[in-house]
Amino acid sequence: MRVVVFSAKPHDREFLGAANAGRHELVFQESRLLAESAPLAAGAPAVCLFVHDHADAGILGTLAKLGVRHIALRCAGFNNVDLAAAARLGIDVVRVPAYSPHGVAEHAAALLLTLNRRTHRAYARVRDGNFSLEGLLGFDLYDKTVGVVGTGKIGACFAAIMRGFGCRVLAHDVVENPVVKTIGGEYVTLDRLFADSHVVSLHCPLTPQTRHLIDADALARMRPGATLINTGRGPLIDTAAVIGALKSGQLGALALDVYEEEEGVFYEDLSGSILADDQLARLLTFPNVLVTSHQAFFTREAIQAIAETTIGNLDDLAAGRPCINALKA
Ligand code: NAI
Repeated sequence: MRVVVFSAKPHDREFLGAANAGRHELVFQESRLLAESAPLAAGAPAVCLFVHDHADAGILGTLAKLGVRHIALRCAGFNNVDLAAAARLGIDVVRVPAYSPHGVAEHAAALLLTLNRRTHRAYARVRDGNFSLEGLLGFDLYDKTVGVVGTGKIGACFAAIMRGFGCRVLAHDVVENPVVKTIGGEYVTLDRLFADSHVVSLHCPLTPQTRHLIDADALARMRPGATLINTGRGPLIDTAAVIGALKSGQLGALALDVYEEEEGVFYEDLSGSILADDQLARLLTFPNVLVTSHQAFFTREAIQAIAETTIGNLDDLAAGRPCINALKA
């Protein structure tokens, strides 16, 4: 089957190409799927999309007119696809529900450790011949309280890592995960989690209910000086509110792997350009803010698993078989 792969990076070519082993005709396109790039899908029954590709109702309509019948997402989150519109247009949507929850959880832990012990600043400082400790004071994670919001596959891994550091884990989810209880996590209300946690880490999906879960009100209810980690989705956090809380000191530190307005910025080399996003530019001025470019998933194991599942999904779609990873509207 001919498949147009949007937002293709060198690692997509390498890993999808290897997993495919010539089964499907993969056509790699660097551009993101947008209204203006949608015609690139002409002549292909399937497209393969990633997190910044837009599959809203209008673009899905264009794809349907071009003959696209299948969308294979090479990610877990699907907030960028209008599933109801896809169903109306007869377009199947499949995804990769799990690849390496460990890799994402480990990145969240790496962000926390870096931010707390300021290793990102120490690295640059020591290489510049400055061996002062000023501004590098951290805290022991041992015996601290870590709040985990969303305790599915990734949140449960993160909770286990934090238990390994000797932390008390408070959890909040709409569905309790017995694994988290087994390792000593305690389910509490969101209010209690905010009030008691020294560290809050977000691992829930982006839905209408979770958009701006962290707003000015939530930040005011947090323990003063808390650390906030977001490896979920950018819009879980109201960026303006978080900047306000950093300026007042109510929020002690912030690590983001995802950002509300990351599309068109994250995954691009903009080092020779002027950053147009004033909120992102402001965030990058704080010494207690650490931003990575949506890379939590980016381990060899995860990329290989994503490629293998995606090709398996495409095999099912091409053969007209039911696919276990199909999404329902
Ligand atoms: P999962 O589906 O296993 O777990 C999500 C959990 O969030 C579920 O237990 C669900 O009940 C819970 N949840 C849903 N609504 C909630 C609410 N209103 N309040 C609290 N909890 C709620 O998903 P998984 O694999 O653990 O991934 C979580 C999220 O991480 C994904 O939706 C995705 O947005 C993000 N992600 C980020 C990556 C990155 O590279 N930064 C990579 C992979 C996923």
